[in-house]
Amino acid sequence: MRFLVLGAAAGGGLPQWNCGCPNCQDARSGKIAPSSQSSLAVSADGERWAILNTSPDLRMQMQVARPLFPRTLRDTPLQSVLVTNGDIDHIAGLLSLREQTPFTLFGTREILSLLSSNRVFDVMNPEKVTRHPLVIGEPFPLLPALQALVFPVPGKVPLFMEDTGSTIQTDLEGEQTVGVRLDDGKTVAYYIPGCARVTDGLLQQISDADHLFFDGTLWQDDEMIRSGTGIKTGQRMGHISISGPEGSIEALKELHCGKTFIHINNTNPVWQPDSAERAYVLAQGWTIAADGMEITL
Ligand code: MLT
Ligand code: MN
Ligand code: ZN
Repeated sequence: MRFLVLGAAAGGGLPQWNCGCPNCQDARSGKIAPSSQSSLAVSADGERWAILNTSPDLRMQMQVARPLFPRTLRDTPLQSVLVTNGDIDHIAGLLSLREQTPFTLFGTREILSLLSSNRVFDVMNPEKVTRHPLVIGEPFPLLPALQALVFPVPGKVPLFMEDTGSTIQTDLEGEQTVGVRLDDGKTVAYYIPGCARVTDGLLQQISDADHLFFDGTLWQDDEMIRSGTGIKTGQRMGHISISGPEGSIEALKELHCGKTFIHINNTNPVWQPDSAERAYVLAQGWTIAADGMEITL
């Protein structure tokens, strides 16, 4: 199984357009590498590819992703797209895939109904782009040689669907936020770019992983408040943090497989090559995704 990280950053990217935090300034000055928003390409044969989540940066990502280049006049190695939730950073790229080339769009009924309730997504010609609703836990061919299934992970409704005035449950387990299991008959990988909490059920689900791509949004829960960039905690956004006794490194330490943080917020200190936080993550056996990174299992 081959992976190509199209975008390693969380919603907003690195730098984020309106952010002057040290990471964003360093990404502008070239001190650290900029990163585009959340998307991962996968292939079982290196010829046919699927994209897991489509960010607003998709057009630019596909411009440099050699395996996704057209081979003939009108063509694409892209066969399917799967979206794991309805957040902007995961669905807005669909609008860049509107040029009459067939592919299959996979998502849970809830996520697909969010798309069908907004007519702007009808620019993906329904005669060319088949929308295939997924049943939780039911395997399906994401690509001819790649079986996949989706499972609920604790999360919340997309930010733009939050009702003001009502309490938002941030660790709902249902169809609005899912993880993906990928199986090519040789290796098994999981992709979970958004997750509020590592439950026993989730640990059980991913116990057969050869590789895990996991939510690396924040280093610590109050990071955005501390840095003065926002007022929300990670928990409020439906994202577990990397560090601490409640964090993902601790929760996933008994999972012995390749582990990669992806969907990393612009405030996260792991972006800095020389940071103690990055060194710690690497010492714990994790890798940190970067745009253009390839992982072959
Ligand atoms: C998230 O992952 O929390 C979302 O992408 C937030 C957003 O849509 O800005
Ligand atoms: Mn996001
Ligand atoms: Zn910033």
